[in-house]
Amino acid sequence: MRAVVVNKTGGPDVLIVAEREPLSPGPGQLLVDVAAAGVNFMDIYQREGRPPYGRDVPFVPGSEGAGTVAALGPGTEGFAVGDRVAWAGAPGCYAEQVVIPAPSAISIPDGVETRVAAAVMLQGITAHYLCHSTYPVANGDVVVVHAAAGGVGLLLTQMVKMRGGTVIATTSTPAKADLAREAGADHLTSYEEFGSVVEQVTGGSGAAVVYDGVGRATFDASLAAIRPRGMMVLYGGSSGPVPPFELQRLAGAGSLFVTRPTMIHYIATRDELVWRTGDLLTWVKDGRLSVRISGTYPLADAARAHDDLAARRTTGKLLLLPR
Ligand SMILES: NC(=O)c1ccc[n+]([C@@H]2O[C@H](COP(=O)([O-])OP(=O)(O)OC[C@H]3O[C@@H](n4cnc5c(N)ncnc54)[C@H](OP(=O)(O)O)[C@@H]3O)[C@@H](O)[C@H]2O)c1
Repeated sequence: MRAVVVNKTGGPDVLIVAEREPLSPGPGQLLVDVAAAGVNFMDIYQREGRPPYGRDVPFVPGSEGAGTVAALGPGTEGFAVGDRVAWAGAPGCYAEQVVIPAPSAISIPDGVETRVAAAVMLQGITAHYLCHSTYPVANGDVVVVHAAAGGVGLLLTQMVKMRGGTVIATTSTPAKADLAREAGADHLTSYEEFGSVVEQVTGGSGAAVVYDGVGRATFDASLAAIRPRGMMVLYGGSSGPVPPFELQRLAGAGSLFVTRPTMIHYIATRDELVWRTGDLLTWVKDGRLSVRISGTYPLADAARAHDDLAARRTTGKLLLLPR
């Protein structure tokens, strides 16, 4: 069984393909032949050993994917060998096979390609919880989506539009702005100018919410763009972590709310996971949600995938294809 293994944390070159012992599923677990594994920023942080994301070495990176059930452990009623399943938040899937907890597995409906299911899980669940639960977008809300051509960004833009929001989207290049426009963004702008676009669009009152996965580079300008009692949703830090923050600033900025959500708390129960993924896979099947896969890589090129993601060369989703 071939897998990407991290024996010591560091740069992309620590991602080495190695032969591993065959896996077998324990109670409540499924053994899955991995068709596609999602590449995410979290995988980079874990590879680097960046606190608080570090893992004990050696480990197989990757927490999201889709494939076919190859064997069942006891207590996995409801699943059968040959089923197509997808998951997010189960470690070790940069590999030909992975063992996942059955409660993390979602059956892929007919009419949805396995690769597309892999591509929509982690970033799709994230986009879903951000605009349905963290700040539930209401009809007419003006919303800022940073990095709108990214994996989360393209999905979040489409979902905010489904809920009747107006999207002000930031991207770094005209080509990325075009993708955000195709996803439904109403106003395209840069990281330098989005504050003045918010001002124009809202007549000076400010955005209801900023969804900020960029972090260090955008945090201050994001806060300044929010209306009184609006919400700052800092869900990532692709430009780096936000430095320590003086809470008193929130009063002067308009009694703002700030939250730093993470996916695991928004799929805390099986019901919640099934709700979010059910929406996602239904929308994909119906053609209401478009999933952009911008790059596919063999396991041996995992380092190149990490490089591309970190260097802002990508849009939408990157997948590793182990087979
Ligand atoms: N909290 C959660 O539950 C959760 C879940 C999933 C992801 N995340 C986080 O959300 C963020 C986005 O994740 P994603 O997978 O969808 O990635 P992504 O948006 O596809 O890629 C990151 C994008 O961020 C933008 N960016 C701005 N400054 C950057 C910089 N200095 N270095 C690199 N990129 C920069 C780039 O777009 P432009 O070139 O257009 O600027 C880049 O393409 C990440 O921080 C990730 O950790 C959080």
